[in-house]
Amino acid sequence: MSPHHDYDAVRKDIAALLHMPDYDDGSAGPVFVRLAWHSSGTYDAETDTGGSNGAGMRYEAEGGDPANAGLQYGRAFLEPIKKKYPWITYSDLWTLAGVVAIKEMGGPDIPWQGGRTDLVDDSKVPPRGRLPDGAQGADHLRFIFYRMGFNDQEIVALTGGHNLGRCHGDRSGFEGPWVTNPTRFSNSFFKLLLQLDWQPRKMRSGNTQFVYVDPDAEEGEEPLMMLPTDMALASDPAFAPWVHRYAEDKELFFDHFSKVFAKLIELGIQRDAQGNVTNTDGSLGGYVSAPKKSDTPTGPPRARL
Ligand code: HEM
Repeated sequence: MSPHHDYDAVRKDIAALLHMPDYDDGSAGPVFVRLAWHSSGTYDAETDTGGSNGAGMRYEAEGGDPANAGLQYGRAFLEPIKKKYPWITYSDLWTLAGVVAIKEMGGPDIPWQGGRTDLVDDSKVPPRGRLPDGAQGADHLRFIFYRMGFNDQEIVALTGGHNLGRCHGDRSGFEGPWVTNPTRFSNSFFKLLLQLDWQPRKMRSGNTQFVYVDPDAEEGEEPLMMLPTDMALASDPAFAPWVHRYAEDKELFFDHFSKVFAKLIELGIQRDAQGNVTNTDGSLGGYVSAPKKSDTPTGPPRARL
């Protein structure tokens, strides 16, 4: 393997970067997973636009989208790696960081291939509004994920990403973690979704989320939460059977999550028989690596950092 494509070395350095005692719940893993997902989840199958090629979040048009609030932390955390391995594209680095983070936090191996290329300017950045809105319900989830080419089972499996991390009031207007150990990948999200008594709560932002108020909680203890879209998985007749199966069978969930996350990070990527990316961009003569914007995160205040 050419030293210029030593992805294993990059993987090791990403893994070494995850532990961050002063950030959130002590790990950069969850924000890397969300970065990989949001960099891919803009795909539109009909027009074949968006998707994990391009790393458009380096530009304000996509990086400044309120739906991507907070992801500047993930991007900035990865800058030392980009500096050390300048040959890797941002689109490869961001998707690989998600895959490494999931594995390191106890999740499944997820197939990953490199070769993505970065946009040279913001003319091909996908329009805003393609990412899901947590305040909505089942119809919205189908509208968003069918557009990318996913089915109902895949929607439920993908949402299992909410076994990790938390909502931040200053980023999304929702607050709190979904599970008690948000840096450990598991099927707890599905179990808790079914088992606990979720009550609506109106947040300061005006959003309504669902919380479980544990009667034995200590004073000031943060309640677990669910988004309205998460709740929709448990009540929709086609989604709910998958929630039950994943709650009962962790192996099945890990297997399905691995497959669907691998599909997610390949959205919009075309490869030849050797696995080389063949995406081209007519007017610009092909995507190439573009310079980064900045090392320092900008945007909402640095809560919890
Ligand atoms: C089903 C539709 C989805 C909706 C509506 C949604 C919505 C959200 C919201 C509102 C947040 C909180 C952001 C913040 O305040 O920092 C969040 C966080 C997160 N989401 Fe999703 N999400 C969805 C699907 C997914 C998928 C498919 C994945 C990955 C497979 C994922 C992984 C994550 C992770 C890991 C976090 C935590 C990030 C952190 O701790 O910084 N989500 N999501």
